Amino acid sequence: MILFFVPLKFKAKDITGELVLVTGSGSGLGRNIAIKFAENGCNVVLWDINALGNSETAAMVREKGSLAYTYEVDVTNSEAVYSAAEQVKKDAGIVTIVINNAGIVVGKPILNLEDNMIRKVFDVNVLSHFWIIKAFLPDMLKNDRGHLVTISSLAGLGGSPKLADYCASKFAACGLMEALQVELHSQGRRNIHTTVICPYFINTGMFNGAATRVFQNLEPDYAADQILTAVLCNKSLVLIPRFFHLLYYLKVLMPARAFLALHDATGGTESMNTFTGRNAKHLRID
Ligand SMILES: NC(=O)c1ccc[n+]([C@@H]2O[C@H](COP(=O)([O-])OP(=O)(O)OC[C@H]3O[C@@H](n4cnc5c(N)ncnc54)[C@H](O)[C@@H]3O)[C@@H](O)[C@H]2O)c1
Repeated sequence: MILFFVPLKFKAKDITGELVLVTGSGSGLGRNIAIKFAENGCNVVLWDINALGNSETAAMVREKGSLAYTYEVDVTNSEAVYSAAEQVKKDAGIVTIVINNAGIVVGKPILNLEDNMIRKVFDVNVLSHFWIIKAFLPDMLKNDRGHLVTISSLAGLGGSPKLADYCASKFAACGLMEALQVELHSQGRRNIHTTVICPYFINTGMFNGAATRVFQNLEPDYAADQILTAVLCNKSLVLIPRFFHLLYYLKVLMPARAFLALHDATGGTESMNTFTGRNAKHLRID
């Protein structure tokens, strides 16, 4: 509580010179995160299936004076992840901060979800995190320093309509990170940090059309700024905007019916009715 009142510059760690891997860096939030870390003196490794978007991000990072290494990697392919991780080590050195950001959404009622889509959502939104952690945690353990960050969602803490697959995958991502945090703690690892980020809707295009009555969608630059701060302060769980921490605590205390009433009152129940998403041609749901 006391730290809440301490200005950021006194409690933030120095990340100058760190090598940061950002997945899903070819657009949206990932691009903003990469630029934000570059502005703070980090070099970045950019992984995406969208090579063109990724090279645009790299150019923006280089404009900030940082090094950017781009790789076309499908994070759902564990072998591709392991071999790309080896290549990164040869090209750029040891990754000290990993940001699992790549994600996809379908946005359909549960009975309209095709089986392969459900699997794909899990592959991208959570299983890929296992492959990436397995690839980069060993060097963090060897050097006894590092930071693993997962971009989950508020949908990883509370259910939403037309997002059963997405919510389940994001809840799983939160569970993975909590278990990992406890595991590292049980091993006495105090210098390897974990952070879970749970944002509300962000204007990146991924959730085009989705909205509630009460809360404004976030701008990607603001969300990236909050993510940077969370890493600088070694926060373990950050909800964006911060107000949602209150609702999160209330949810734990509330009876289930009251949670549904809150959904109705805020427009959460209809939030996906106007969802269009973006043209998802690069998501490769095959
Ligand atoms: N946009 C929102 O409203 C919102 C809200 C909460 C959480 N999030 C989460 O934030 C993260 C970023 O979302 P965004 O809004 O920037 O989405 P986005 O669609 O703009 O970007 C996602 C990026 O991930 C890449 N990607 C997808 N599948 C991949 C794969 N198999 N391998 C490698 N890269 C892959 C895409 O090419 C794209 O560049 C996601 O995890 C998302 O679930 C988004």
